[in-house]
Amino acid sequence: VKSNLPEVVTLARAQKALPTRHQFGHKGTFGHVLVAGGSKPYIGAPLHSAESAFMTGAGLVTLLVPEDIYTAVASQNKNALLRTLPSEDGHFISTGMEDLPFEELDVLAVGPGLGRFTGGQEFLQRLMEGLGGQPLVIDADGLYHIKGQLGRVSEYAGEVILTPHPGEMAMLLGKEVSEVEADRLGIAHEFVQKYGVNLILKGHRTVIATPDALLVNQNGNDSLAKGGSGDVLTGIIASFLGQGASPLEAMTAAVHLHATAGESAAIRLSHYSVTPEDVLAESRYIMKEWE
Ligand code: APR
Ligand code: MG
Repeated sequence: VKSNLPEVVTLARAQKALPTRHQFGHKGTFGHVLVAGGSKPYIGAPLHSAESAFMTGAGLVTLLVPEDIYTAVASQNKNALLRTLPSEDGHFISTGMEDLPFEELDVLAVGPGLGRFTGGQEFLQRLMEGLGGQPLVIDADGLYHIKGQLGRVSEYAGEVILTPHPGEMAMLLGKEVSEVEADRLGIAHEFVQKYGVNLILKGHRTVIATPDALLVNQNGNDSLAKGGSGDVLTGIIASFLGQGASPLEAMTAAVHLHATAGESAAIRLSHYSVTPEDVLAESRYIMKEWE
């Protein structure tokens, strides 16, 4: 797209973007998602992403967390395979990554609960080097660790999907949040043109941008304005990518599903009370309507 006039994400468009399920599929064909994240203060974030990937159709989910928090994570996990890497003070330290089962993975989502630590930049770099071009979703503090490395990220062999909220977008660009919010479409459009990546700029009226498309999602409400709802979105995007959706399809279906689920959960539970788990639970009923 040459201009920054967006198209609107309609229900029909989102529904069509859902990955197709094959009757004879098995767990190996519906994608193996790796979620890498977590740190001592943020145990829930990677669990939300992993659970969201699983509940929206991924065949296998592996959750990779720092060794220090393994017990806490394991106590709350039922559906993901668990792996750890060496850690210090409850966060990764960027070693042991050569042993990860990169070739078994179909998609990697990195960032939820990751935290900010010395060596984070190297951590992201080694993940990118280990992967063979599978789609890579970078969220939350994963975005912090690629600040200043956007040139390298744009050289990654596969599709990259960045999912910043306005604060993270401002951090990446070295701008004020108010500047980002004043021109959400223009900033998203310019960013994907410059770096050749895919982007979701979150917030009320989430913007979806690829080098060839610019869309705006018009639903969703304040029930989603709660720690952890972004982690759910990240898991859903990774899930759809693993099931064969293109980045544009995965982002379109996931953003609209997540927003619709938030609205629907708010009707049942009030705008005050919706949790990320409720958003995920509601997403499953919405998917039933869409399939
Ligand atoms: N209307 C519509 N959608 C909304 C609204 C709203 N008023 N408020 C929030 N949302 C949606 C956003 O569009 C996005 O999809 O809820 C989600 C919030 O995502 P994040 O801002 O990433 O929130 P969170 O899940 O708490 O992130 C977890 O990672 O991004 C870091 O610093 C962040 O520590 C936090 C962690
Ligand atoms: Mg977030």
